[in-house]
Amino acid sequence: MNYDRSIYLDAVKETLETNIFYHSLALEACVGGVYDHLQSENRITSNEPKKDDWLLAGLIHDIDYAGEFKDQHPANTAQALAKHNLTVSDSVMQIVKAHGWHYPGGLKPESLAQWTIFCADSLTGLIIAVALVYPSKKLSEVKVSSVLKRFLKEPKFAAGTRREDVKLCELETALNIQLDKFIEICLGSMQKIATDIGL
Ligand SMILES: [Fe+2]
Repeated sequence: MNYDRSIYLDAVKETLETNIFYHSLALEACVGGVYDHLQSENRITSNEPKKDDWLLAGLIHDIDYAGEFKDQHPANTAQALAKHNLTVSDSVMQIVKAHGWHYPGGLKPESLAQWTIFCADSLTGLIIAVALVYPSKKLSEVKVSSVLKRFLKEPKFAAGTRREDVKLCELETALNIQLDKFIEICLGSMQKIATDIGL
């Protein structure tokens, strides 16, 4: 790792409400998992940002979703980081902008990193919501089939999930990963950090 994750982690934790902080950790885990999957299939080309950039973008992508910046999220990522005397590279910033494609300061995803953050952003909330249905509220109990069923057949469940955005993972011009596989990767990645996100 070529960046000090702990200082970015502290900044995100200090700035964001707990649920958004947990979502940030979840998205960091998901983009890391998708990177590893794509790499295992030799789909990470030299044009792609390095894995550290994927992870850091996942971690800090919502850092301006608080306080005076919240209304313009994600347009003020640099300013929100500056409050902690932090910066990120252009590569990380481009990934962050892509997660907010449809928002001010957003950017249409192009790289695999950008499509991954865009498609996974909204999926973490649905996966967490599925875990919360269980009496134990444990992510370890959640199965891919349960998430898929809630996703496809129960549009009112976790209604804020932007299902159409998540489903773009299947596009050949995006990630070319089938939805069930994408859910499997994200769920597995989140299960690895379940205790960090209170599940
Ligand atoms: Fe987010």
